[in-house]
Amino acid sequence: MRIVVLVSGGGTNLQAIIDGIKNNTIRNTRIVEVVSNNAGAYALTRAKDNGIEGKCISPKDYDSRDEFNKALVEEIDKVNPDLIVLAGFLVNIPAEMVAKYERKIINIHPSLIPSFCGKGYYGLKVHEAALNRGVKVTGATVHFVDEGTDTGPIILQKAVEVKDGDTPEVLQRRVMEEAEWVILPKAIDMLANG
Ligand code: GRF
Repeated sequence: MRIVVLVSGGGTNLQAIIDGIKNNTIRNTRIVEVVSNNAGAYALTRAKDNGIEGKCISPKDYDSRDEFNKALVEEIDKVNPDLIVLAGFLVNIPAEMVAKYERKIINIHPSLIPSFCGKGYYGLKVHEAALNRGVKVTGATVHFVDEGTDTGPIILQKAVEVKDGDTPEVLQRRVMEEAEWVILPKAIDMLANG
């Protein structure tokens, strides 16, 4: 299965996919390209260090969001992936792309959807909200992307304990290590092997 991974930041989920392919927990899968909206994303360095084609397509380089959307879809079409993986990608996916790649786009969200998700819930904000609400359990979700935000059909979830004294940063790290980096590779392996 040919996958394109869309990233915006540090790329720890991308790294988990790279490692999963290397240690064969992700079978029959190849990352054909990494695309970032952010030229400074360390995820692009991770791609380069692993001999994977990296591309930056930034809204800043286009006169309008429509132009950016068109360029993004064109790039994806060119690579012709079987699956598009959003791994910490913070740009809204154009409706045209969702329609064109229905059930072929998956996203990792750092909470147990439907909690702490939707507009404005990304990165540390998700964990701040969980701590403010005082939940004892949080986790991560892999889901298909539809036209909404974090609203598509759920594929996998994994729970993580919230501990006394957790800061958003400490909780984010635990959710990444114990949940995100486990279920995203697993979901890809499941989709790559029927
Ligand atoms: C993190 O907030 C992670 O929880 C979410 O996207 C952000 C960046 O992840 N999935 P990554 O290190 O770039 O994969």
